[in-house]
Amino acid sequence: MDEQIVGKTTNSLSFLASQEFWDGAGSVRYPLGVMHTVKAIYPGTFDPLTNGHLDLIARGAKIVDELVVAILRNSEKGTPLFSVAERLEMIAEAVAPLANVSAMTFDGLLVDFARQQGAKAVLRGIRAISDYEYEFQMAMMNRKLDPELETLFMMPAEKYTYVSSRLIKGVFQLGGDVTALVPPMVVERLKAKS
Ligand code: PNS
Repeated sequence: MDEQIVGKTTNSLSFLASQEFWDGAGSVRYPLGVMHTVKAIYPGTFDPLTNGHLDLIARGAKIVDELVVAILRNSEKGTPLFSVAERLEMIAEAVAPLANVSAMTFDGLLVDFARQQGAKAVLRGIRAISDYEYEFQMAMMNRKLDPELETLFMMPAEKYTYVSSRLIKGVFQLGGDVTALVPPMVVERLKAKS
């Protein structure tokens, strides 16, 4: 029975023979049946954290063993509304109920940070087709820089597909209600800034 299962598994993996992680002698470099813990990085600007981000974090935390939400310190997106320290505090508070999620900051190349962290994957959200081109370019560039690092794409809940940090800031500054779209502590911090 065991042999049958092993045979079947090997057959179904025969297409991997041409792949670099197949040693050509009948075994994969990542042996079947061995447990791997997968650590992933969820990088971003998070200025501020939205419920769309949180939704993705919760989904990612169910798939990987360890998830690090990583705030880019040297963002090229212009002057942020919230300082890196403020964003870190907000994310740390929001992810506190999730035991396998932590929050950090990073500078420089994402691939270098991922390597330092021993992470095998980068998690990114795709809300709509419009996100795809930018995300595809980043994923391919990161693969060029580090072929070992995989990018995982997940979709947030439909109700958050139009939510972005940029829109949240814009709507709030014009007096719009964003309470359903960001965690309560973010609403408080937005109010404190205005
Ligand atoms: O929230 P954002 O702005 O969409 O996140 C973009 C981010 C932080 C993921 C991206 O800008 C990034 O990874 N920057 C680090 C610099 C880097 O590694 N650049 C090369 C990959 S394109």
